[in-house]
Amino acid sequence: MSKFTFIPADKHKAKQTDTSKLGFGKLFTDYMLTARYTQGEGWHDMRIEPYGPFAMDPASMVFHYGQEMFEGLKAYRAADGRTLLFRPLDNFKRMNQSGERMAMAQLDPELMLEGLVELIRREEAWIPIGEGTSLYIRPTMIATDAALGVHASKTYLFFIILSPVGAYYANGFNPIKIYVEDEYVRAVRGGTGFTKCGGNYAASILAGNVAESKGYTQVLWLDGVERKYVEEVGAMNMFFVIDGELVTPPLRGSILPGITRDSVIKLAEHMGYRVTQRLISIQEVYDAHAAGKLDEAFGTGTAAVISPVGELNWDGNIITINDMKNGPIAVALYERLTGIQYGRLDDPFGWVYEVK
Ligand code: PLP
Ligand code: COI
Repeated sequence: MSKFTFIPADKHKAKQTDTSKLGFGKLFTDYMLTARYTQGEGWHDMRIEPYGPFAMDPASMVFHYGQEMFEGLKAYRAADGRTLLFRPLDNFKRMNQSGERMAMAQLDPELMLEGLVELIRREEAWIPIGEGTSLYIRPTMIATDAALGVHASKTYLFFIILSPVGAYYANGFNPIKIYVEDEYVRAVRGGTGFTKCGGNYAASILAGNVAESKGYTQVLWLDGVERKYVEEVGAMNMFFVIDGELVTPPLRGSILPGITRDSVIKLAEHMGYRVTQRLISIQEVYDAHAAGKLDEAFGTGTAAVISPVGELNWDGNIITINDMKNGPIAVALYERLTGIQYGRLDDPFGWVYEVK
């Protein structure tokens, strides 16, 4: 007996069969999962119901104080037809870390994974087939108390929506250009940088607009105190290959502990590369480039997968990395990671979760 009540839809949407037109996060499937939380009662009214709008009180706390957080993971269609999730429990566990910082309700990760699996089973036909395509999964929690005092809400709405997607960046697996942001900051230690709260992203949009107007895809954030050390890119963690060694900023509370970041560290070590998590200043990146030692740079993320960075602009100083070409280490990691995610390669780490 399912813990999630199923409410059938009257009609179903037409699917986009041309996967080149999917884009990212523009189309949504027929069903969503919803669950309500009330302090003292826990999670209740758990449903899989037709995708559609919520009726909400205008005083709902999420609208005023942004008590909100979300996650992002994907379901992949393997060539043999299996439906695979990648490290799904880690996303629900990270949601609890975000939730703790945002003073929100805790989830039962196993229960929500059970619900997600039921939802995916119903929506399997929406998982696109083809290289680089997947069904993006967006679990979200919002504060629903209708009250204007600044306090933790006592009620929450949790939901999961699904979106068939292609590549996050319009140009697919090709180097992107990144603008090093030295005016605005994204996060400081002690703040919410390590969470996936909506506010982090709202605060990043202005800098993103400026970067885009200059022809850059995203911004690279520097640390909020000294504006010296590399933090992360808008929707990705960063790796630099310096003299053959992979260097990535450490988790100090101001960047997202990316699941792709963790996977890439483990895969790279498994493949024999040296990986170091340490502070790296933007000056060091530029010095390495000047010395001919900056072999590659790339970002990692669920939406972005592995994305080579071919150009950096720091205060007007532009450097081109690896001749604006995909580097061999980024390519090898991309092949290995996506090979595991799409079930083409062995999964020595036990990351893949098959939806049966
Ligand atoms: N950093 C930020 C700010 C992100 O939004 C994301 C995407 O989720 C990442 C890093 C990469 O995290 P993950 O690999 O868990 O998707
Ligand atoms: C993800 O990679 O899942 C993200 O959440 C990035 C998103 C902000 C588009």
